[in-house]
Amino acid sequence: MPVTALVSAKSCGVTAAALALTLASKRPSLLAECDPAGGTIRAGLLGGQVNAGFGLYHLARAERTGPEALANAFASHLCHLDQAGHRKLLPGLTDPAQAAALARTWPALADVLHVMAQQASHDVYIDAGRLALEAGHLHPTLTPAPLLYRADMVLLVVRGTEQSLALARHVIPSLRTALQENGSSANALGLLLIEDGPFRAHQVGESLQTPVIAALPHDQDVAHYLTAGGHPPRGYGRSALLRYARTATEQIEVAASRRQFQQYAPPAPQLAGILQRLNQQHTEGGVKHG
Ligand SMILES: Nc1ncnc2c1ncn2[C@@H]1O[C@H](COP(=O)(O)OP(=O)(O)OP(=O)(O)O)[C@@H](O)[C@H]1O
Ligand SMILES: [Mg+2]
Repeated sequence: MPVTALVSAKSCGVTAAALALTLASKRPSLLAECDPAGGTIRAGLLGGQVNAGFGLYHLARAERTGPEALANAFASHLCHLDQAGHRKLLPGLTDPAQAAALARTWPALADVLHVMAQQASHDVYIDAGRLALEAGHLHPTLTPAPLLYRADMVLLVVRGTEQSLALARHVIPSLRTALQENGSSANALGLLLIEDGPFRAHQVGESLQTPVIAALPHDQDVAHYLTAGGHPPRGYGRSALLRYARTATEQIEVAASRRQFQQYAPPAPQLAGILQRLNQQHTEGGVKHG
């Protein structure tokens, strides 16, 4: 299952989208709230029920002890967004000043998230907050850069408005270069469109020269519930936002698989020769035994 990081150029609905995808996914899912500017789900959807003794910040100390301590801490700092425990949340930072302590934790956390995706078959979403760029590079503490570099898909959340596209246009080249130069390839980058404003998906994709992987409707009531908490609005379970989010999870998975396929490099000719000889030996051995 893919690990998908969501970011914005400026507050476009990353947290609401990450929650909608996590809650709507067909499979077990996990949302890691890794916005260095601080998490909002604890005080929002969770209604302040999860205290500061719990969440992402506490993984920094565990990581300094070692990978096993980090894995244990990760498991014990998850909370459930549903009764069955299929939808898990790693609550974010309670204070932006905590972000510096996480700088060396991100690579090890990326490993843990990939284990959740590949071995525990979870759809994993990362709320990576707003992109912070410095001299054309991802800022090392104001953006969880290693999580973006290791993600299967990096989705820039944009709205179909001129203001949103204008800001996105500036960050995309730097983000694309950073992904290209740091291990993951630039084709991890796609857009998640919030259908607000005059521009349709094909216009947004063309204008930003980046594929729109999925779109979510502008749904003020449900988005408000997801970001601010309180009582779910009428028809929440059947709402357009959650229905589209379910489709979006599938579109993201398809895009991630396509990307994996493109990245698959056929074995070098020398290796192909070795494989051929091994196969031949195996067949000849089989004849002798027979
Ligand atoms: N799909 C949507 N339809 C309508 N309103 C939305 C949608 N998504 C988000 N919003 C609204 O936009 C505002 C910002 O949403 P959200 O907190 O998800 O953005 P964000 O990108 O995480 O912002 P920040 O960078 O400040 O963390 C909230 O008022 C939320 O209710
Ligand atoms: Mg947010």
